[in-house]
Amino acid sequence: MTATPNPAKDAAPLPTLPGQRCTLRALVLADAPSLQRHADDPAVAHNLFEGFPQPYTLEQAEHWCGHFHREPQFGHVWGITVDGEVAGCISVAPERGLWRGSACIGYWLGQAHWRQGIVSEALGLVTFWAWANLPQVTRLYMPIYARNAGSRGVARRAGYVQEGYLPYAVCKSGESIDAVLCGAYRPGLEVETK
Ligand SMILES: CC(C)(COP(=O)(O)OP(=O)(O)OC[C@H]1O[C@@H](n2cnc3c(N)ncnc32)[C@H](O)[C@@H]1OP(=O)(O)O)[C@@H](O)C(=O)NCCC(=O)NCCS
Repeated sequence: MTATPNPAKDAAPLPTLPGQRCTLRALVLADAPSLQRHADDPAVAHNLFEGFPQPYTLEQAEHWCGHFHREPQFGHVWGITVDGEVAGCISVAPERGLWRGSACIGYWLGQAHWRQGIVSEALGLVTFWAWANLPQVTRLYMPIYARNAGSRGVARRAGYVQEGYLPYAVCKSGESIDAVLCGAYRPGLEVETK
């Protein structure tokens, strides 16, 4: 396992996480062209937060890959590499204050690689890493638009459970839409479901 220094974070350097279908590794500026090609797609942006640029320019990709992804608010960010190039990203961002036991996960992958089990594997790798490296975190969670069957499938396949269904919770592109919260809990903890 190799590690790239991640100076914006107090935590250990970001490790490379190898899988069968993809490898997760730190982003570098040279990833910008492939990242831009995969990110510049309305189908990718459709179920992401509104700040995800669309169209996604090479300049924005260079800004993201060069340094912006290291800003503390994004937490720990990996590029998802498939066939030797970065085709998406996955991140885990620990909350602060009262909610510091929780960390929010986010991910996207270029359409060319959908439905091959890649993000399910990536989520499994990041989940395993988080339990080992974020001792304060007891819960990992994702807010997902209810319409996003693919992301709900990823969560299910990686062992996350649906914590709640939130009608009309999100405003996206002028629409009020439903969301679900999916979560996983530190192994060994007894989880009460009500
Ligand atoms: C959603 C997304 C992450 C799925 O990634 P993926 O690598 O294609 O997903 P996987 O191949 O690991 O699929 C996981 C499960 O979901 C199912 N699935 C994937 N895409 C699906 C879709 N569009 N519709 C229905 N089910 C889908 C798979 O069949 C699989 O189910 P299974 O375990 O029963 O076989 C990917 O489509 C994407 O990046 N979309 C755009 C950005 C986005 O929505 N990000 C998530 C925001 S919360």
